[in-house]
Amino acid sequence: MELSEEARKECEKIISRYPEDWKEAAILPVLHLVQREWGYVSLEGIKTVAEMLGMPTARAAGVMSFYPMFYKAPVGKHVIHVCSTLSCALGGAEDLVDHLKRKLKIEVGETTEDGNFTLLKAECIAACEAAPAIRIDDRLYRFIGKEQIDELLDSLD
Ligand code: FES
Repeated sequence: MELSEEARKECEKIISRYPEDWKEAAILPVLHLVQREWGYVSLEGIKTVAEMLGMPTARAAGVMSFYPMFYKAPVGKHVIHVCSTLSCALGGAEDLVDHLKRKLKIEVGETTEDGNFTLLKAECIAACEAAPAIRIDDRLYRFIGKEQIDELLDSLD
């Protein structure tokens, strides 16, 4: 899989904003761009990013693995991240996960047959005071309950 000419040029433009010795610092916006292009960042994608930034592939992969918003494999049209860290766990995150597994008929880490939803668990998503919290795509939902989740998923279908 090759990056489109347009995406490659956009990457080069991003990288050009950084000093030659600090090109690696452009890794996050470049990873975002690659994911926007392909929907995820495959091993091939990591190699492409590392090559563009002049850094070892292993280091690029290490950086990417730190950030849960980057996907190593294809995901659904909508990605649901259920926070499972302490506040949300105490607030009922596991019940939400069970509810979503039943409703979507998938396990955590899987995508629905129609390709609409991927269910993932996440570490703290910075809404501890509003537990339980989930993130769907780029939006955060606080004090979320099963009924609200049902309404949300119906609105996203
Ligand atoms: S513990 Fe869930 S948002 Fe922080």
